[in-house]
Amino acid sequence: MSGEKYVGAIDQGTTGTRFMVFDHDGKVVANAYEKHEQIYPEPGWVEHDANEIWGNTKKVINEALDDALLDADQLEAIGITNQRETTIVWDRETGQPIHNAIVWQDRRTTDRIETLEADDKTDDVRAKTGLEPDAYFSATKAEWLLDNSDPIKLQRSRPEDIRDRAEEGELAFGTIDTWLIYNLTGNHITDVTNASRTMLFNIHDMEWDDELLDEFNVPREILPEVRPSSDDNYYGTTDADGFLGAEIPVAGALGDQQAALFGQTCFDAGDAKNTYGTGSFMLMNTGEEAVMSEHGLLTTVGFQRSGEPVQYALEGSIFITGAAIEWLEDMTLIESAAESEKLARSVDSTDGVYFVPAFAGLGAPHWDQRARGTIVGMTRGTRREHIVRATLESIAFQTRDVAEAMQSDSDIDLASLRVDGGAVKNNFLCQLQSNILDTEIVRPQVDETTALGSAYAAGLAVGYWENLDELRANWQVDREFEPKDPQNVEHRYGRWKEAVDRSLDWARD
Ligand code: G3P
Repeated sequence: MSGEKYVGAIDQGTTGTRFMVFDHDGKVVANAYEKHEQIYPEPGWVEHDANEIWGNTKKVINEALDDALLDADQLEAIGITNQRETTIVWDRETGQPIHNAIVWQDRRTTDRIETLEADDKTDDVRAKTGLEPDAYFSATKAEWLLDNSDPIKLQRSRPEDIRDRAEEGELAFGTIDTWLIYNLTGNHITDVTNASRTMLFNIHDMEWDDELLDEFNVPREILPEVRPSSDDNYYGTTDADGFLGAEIPVAGALGDQQAALFGQTCFDAGDAKNTYGTGSFMLMNTGEEAVMSEHGLLTTVGFQRSGEPVQYALEGSIFITGAAIEWLEDMTLIESAAESEKLARSVDSTDGVYFVPAFAGLGAPHWDQRARGTIVGMTRGTRREHIVRATLESIAFQTRDVAEAMQSDSDIDLASLRVDGGAVKNNFLCQLQSNILDTEIVRPQVDETTALGSAYAAGLAVGYWENLDELRANWQVDREFEPKDPQNVEHRYGRWKEAVDRSLDWARD
């Protein structure tokens, strides 16, 4: 493969980091992956070590290139896609984080959001940001970090020094895209999609919002510059003397769900996709209009190319889907994710069991920060196969909850839904999803559309791909699943909703 040119993509997700290299047809030519530690210091808290993530990023890039016998200078550009909202604050001088990253699933700032509700401020926040105020987003995480990080890490003795240093611009805030861009290029930059998930960014003016910065006590001095998701001016280049040994433009970045929308070539208003990762996130492109939801969805930035208008999206964010399968593994109910398909197929039904995996509260369309995981309907005869099947059903039912909200908000009937992410390898799940939604499910050949989307964004910026039509031509169907075998779907969906009701507001004390 010597001499040929490619585009690389870093996909930094909740559980691990992947580097993929794509050719002009959008085919994968190199791929490496590394998990990182999940840190749970207290119930409801989730942290990552940002240094471990950066170390893994370098490792998977080198591994993927070595395995495929590629030289770094065969990369025309690198794109970044990332778990969104996860928040890091670091010292600009040393480049060292002042605390572990607070992960999007973390619930430690629930009380802070409730103060906002008590003060009647949520409508304002929603109107400016398109977001349903929740501990999910970065704003309250950044505030917490500035108020609670251990000053010893900063070689200072008093907590108030952290805020002083932030106000003096000595600290930097970023989501994971920003952390990686900073480490790769030395520049402090985020893209519009990631900015739109901070709850500090006005998605109509496309600027950091002074009132929100005041509300959440985040000094403007720590914020990154906001740039298009596909940036002809590049965010920067890697260092020829650095770990890669080559100067490669870093030219595209999108939050992972927006990247999947882009990778699925959902470029036009009405195009929708659902990604099954740690959580599941259904996004519908709404074009240049920021459609405000009346049914519990988020309005968010879909993507922006240099010199072009911002494209918005409606989003249904489900916090726990693939993570529920991981939990089955942790509980030793299954040996691997692949085994879930076999076990679920081995029984005809869940035997009346419903599992609401509200481990991190519930997102769209319920938005209940205090909901918790609930299994109902068990009998002495319940077997692990039933629980495994109920877990897969919970993924499909949660998706129906957001699909119904999306159809109501958009007035568009979802005749067909493009899916991607790790769990869509599971044919049982895809068929189940089609039955429960009564909608055709379309799985593309490249199911890692998240990485592909960020490669597209970076490749368009450097002219590796000329236009969107070239990308549309790359998109190929792997398999379509048509609804069949309704098996009492409406009745079961009704029971599912009752089970959801029982999970709500559990962690109220
Ligand atoms: O908003 C959170 C989302 O970006 C996480 O994505 O793929 O890591 O589950 P994933």
